[in-house]
Amino acid sequence: MVQQEHLSRQLSFVVIGASGDLAVKKIFPALFSLYCRGDMPDTFCCCGFARTDMSHDAFRALLLEHLACRYTPGEQECRALTDAFLKRCFYVSGQYDAPDSFGALARVLAETEKSDMPTRRVFYFSIPPFLFMPTAQSLAQASLSDDIPEKRQCRVVIEKPFGRDRASSDELTRGLAAVFTEEQTYRIDHYLGKEVIQNMMALRFANLVFEPLWNRVNIARVLITWMEDIGVEGRAGYFDAYGILRDVMQNHLLQMLALTAMEEPLSLNPEYVRDEKVKVLRSAAPATLDDIVTGQYVAASYHGTQRKGYLDEDGVPPDSITPTYAAVALKIRNRRWDGIPFLIRAGKGLNDRKTEIRIVFRKVPANIFANSPNPPEANELVIRVQPDPGISLSFMNKKLGMPLSLQKTELKLSYAEVFDEQTPDAYESLILDVIKGDKSLFIRADELAAAWDVFTPVLHALESCTIRPQPYPFGSNGPQSADALAALYKADWR
Ligand SMILES: NC(=O)c1ccc[n+]([C@@H]2O[C@H](COP(=O)([O-])OP(=O)(O)OC[C@H]3O[C@@H](n4cnc5c(N)ncnc54)[C@H](OP(=O)(O)O)[C@@H]3O)[C@@H](O)[C@H]2O)c1
Repeated sequence: MVQQEHLSRQLSFVVIGASGDLAVKKIFPALFSLYCRGDMPDTFCCCGFARTDMSHDAFRALLLEHLACRYTPGEQECRALTDAFLKRCFYVSGQYDAPDSFGALARVLAETEKSDMPTRRVFYFSIPPFLFMPTAQSLAQASLSDDIPEKRQCRVVIEKPFGRDRASSDELTRGLAAVFTEEQTYRIDHYLGKEVIQNMMALRFANLVFEPLWNRVNIARVLITWMEDIGVEGRAGYFDAYGILRDVMQNHLLQMLALTAMEEPLSLNPEYVRDEKVKVLRSAAPATLDDIVTGQYVAASYHGTQRKGYLDEDGVPPDSITPTYAAVALKIRNRRWDGIPFLIRAGKGLNDRKTEIRIVFRKVPANIFANSPNPPEANELVIRVQPDPGISLSFMNKKLGMPLSLQKTELKLSYAEVFDEQTPDAYESLILDVIKGDKSLFIRADELAAAWDVFTPVLHALESCTIRPQPYPFGSNGPQSADALAALYKADWR
């Protein structure tokens, strides 16, 4: 069984770029939580690799700052688990493009791995993407990445961004494929590890009530929103090279769209799930300049504090045309969704922090309440990813008392109130899937290509015509023309 097989192999989990934020704040804490939950095999080791010079002990001290016992309250037990986990953590310092450095890593792995047990090695690339290829080649030259039938199985995990457009993404895919097969490759999108997103398939396919209505006949539009009320916060260098379309839309939001719009897969088999996502992404018409509004936040006072504009942020060129906001109307050309707009927007420096999918149903056609003072409004199903994960459904109710009149009310499911269990962090859930070999939530090469096809033409058009994003004040709801875009589809951003 896939569920248990992972516990019977020894595991070497290698994090490349282990001195970085993602490794120290997310990946190692997630590995520690899995260890505390009993989800790691008895024989496992974690090894960090990066250029920073550090001893094993200095590395352990760095990790200790961020380890938390989320599942095991009690100071003594927590201390014992932390000590036991850290004893299994090692560190190797070296250069990413130097096979010799990886020879040192190979020696550490050889010392910790038992030669008579089947081994699984995971290489997690927590490094800037320009280092992916040199690192993969160094691993190959140090003979670290080959599978050995019955003995050793290797997997590689890579973090977005996967290229800047379809061509560069294909180039990266081809380059990595020279070292790791598609079967060995796990392209992570941490949004897919979030509980509410994983719940999309249960919501749609394990309930009778939604699926019969899930189509162009009953749904008027779908709005997908990702917004933050902070700026680029020290990530200006990275952000300016990518912008909001590449950083958030082409990956997280398109994945949310795919899970909302796809057909029911044949089974939960990861390949069937990914087949359906590819199919729906290929049905999406590529966005054009007519379908998009881009924006850039400018200085303003927000909650009583003066906030910088994007162009004033340290590390942003004064003439940057990188969008910090985008709103796009996408159309899916298939029988289920023909004519239904999928309005997606993402922005920084806005007036709220939330990620949600809003399914807006059609209004009830001619009905007995049509002429009442409060005629029926459209039902809305909102899937709230963050903050306060949950689901709500608005519906019309009779107001208490007389005379008969209607009121819009909400059925609400709040994850925090309904589920007692600690919600696993997205990285915990996804790393466990990597260890188990469950690829349902990882992006397949053809899926990645299909996602780039939706945005590559418009990205090139925006950049080649040097289209300047529209300014919007920090702490606002985005540029006004984004409201006009939504209004074209009788929608409003909320
Ligand atoms: N942080 C997040 O939440 C997040 C979210 C999504 C995706 N990502 C992706 O995951 C990767 C890791 O994230 P991170 O925040 O940990 O990144 P990071 O701190 O910038 O980089 C990770 C490590 O890579 C090495 N490195 C960085 N820049 C380098 C350079 N120019 N040349 C050689 N080595 C360099 C550094 O280690 P040494 O100097 O010790 O070698 C650094 O500690 C990022 O590249 C990003 O693409 C991150």
